[in-house]
Amino acid sequence: MNEKPKNDSEARPDQAKDPYNFYRYLRDHDPVCRMEGDGPWQVARYEDVHRILKDQDTFSSDVSMQPPEERSPSMLFSDPPVHNRLRKLVSYAFKPSYIEAQRTVVEVRCEELIADMKQHKSVDLVDALASPLPVNIIAHMLGVVDGDMKAFKVWSDTIFSNIGDILFGVTSEEAQRCSDELNAYFLERIAELRVNPVDHVLGRLVQTETEDGRLTDEELLSFCRLLLIAGNETTTGLITAAVRIFDEVPETLVQLRENPGLIPGFIEEALRYYSPFAATIRKVTRDVTIAGTAIPAGSIVLPLISSANRDERVFDRPEAFVIDRQPNPHVAFGFGIHFCLGAHLARLEGQIAVEQLVQNFSNISLATSVGAEEGSGLGGPKSLRVELQV
Ligand code: HEM
Repeated sequence: MNEKPKNDSEARPDQAKDPYNFYRYLRDHDPVCRMEGDGPWQVARYEDVHRILKDQDTFSSDVSMQPPEERSPSMLFSDPPVHNRLRKLVSYAFKPSYIEAQRTVVEVRCEELIADMKQHKSVDLVDALASPLPVNIIAHMLGVVDGDMKAFKVWSDTIFSNIGDILFGVTSEEAQRCSDELNAYFLERIAELRVNPVDHVLGRLVQTETEDGRLTDEELLSFCRLLLIAGNETTTGLITAAVRIFDEVPETLVQLRENPGLIPGFIEEALRYYSPFAATIRKVTRDVTIAGTAIPAGSIVLPLISSANRDERVFDRPEAFVIDRQPNPHVAFGFGIHFCLGAHLARLEGQIAVEQLVQNFSNISLATSVGAEEGSGLGGPKSLRVELQV
């Protein structure tokens, strides 16, 4: 790995206004830096982000501030052995072969959404495709019927937008109400599925039994919530990332239409270039040194996935979008024991959405520019007006 020379006279870019330049500045000058005085530590270089994700003993995912008795068991925010048990139980329902079997459902839903888009010259891509596609697919996999979709979308949006508060124990009234409604809805479905099994993800989870026992109702509910939080906004972010790239590098649209074999590599590069899960969180379990900075036990660290994925120590020309970049060891889906459980599904949805967009539109361009700050949070821009040419 090459060390970049430091230019200490460079001014620190504003994180909110210019995140990618801010990350570059951190990688070069301040690779482990504290937010707002005594806030969490941001870790910017690929090597250090990778090390944190790999070492679950030193960097714990159990970051919740809620007392253990008030928490629901969540795979994402737990360490072994709790994590092993939950992951093993749900992995069966997320096997690549089962996800591949969802291909037709994803294709059909995508075709319907794109047929609607073709009626307009300009749409909000988030409303028209990027948000409804993943929400519909998760809903389908959890057995939510069409009539309940509207409520499901509201629960999903509200729980997602309150994730920080939920994690740190200050749930808003609205988030609490949505959480209660979602729990009541799924408890009813789970009770039905225990009597009449159905082969969808929730049905499989209800029936799964290993030497570790079955998932409890509380664990099943927690998993439904996790899928909403971890799976929807992130996949929305991947689809908006793809379209932002069509606008920035218009030849990609033509290349993909003429050579669909490039689509999987395009998706990997889109995940690297505009990483939808921009940063994750860990708690340090012992005093540790990262890139020369001593961090005491108990500190919160934020491995900056977006920054790692643009690290010039690992990627040639990291600021360029290279449609067939090889190798592309991005960490957009994380690394280690918490590696994204939904990566196959996200890739499938991303690839199908891109395939159908390039087949159906001769050109797609942004109607307004995306503010850097809007595009850098978890997921991506909350709205993205695009102009379409068939
Ligand atoms: C482009 C879309 C997606 C991205 C970029 C993404 C990214 C990630 C990342 C970075 C992690 C690890 C977080 C950590 O280590 O703290 C993660 C975990 C997870 N993701 Fe995804 N994700 C995506 C889509 C999905 C989908 C579609 C689902 C399910 C439907 C999903 C379910 C999960 C779950 C359950 C975990 C927790 C795994 C564990 O703790 O063992 N994700 N995801």
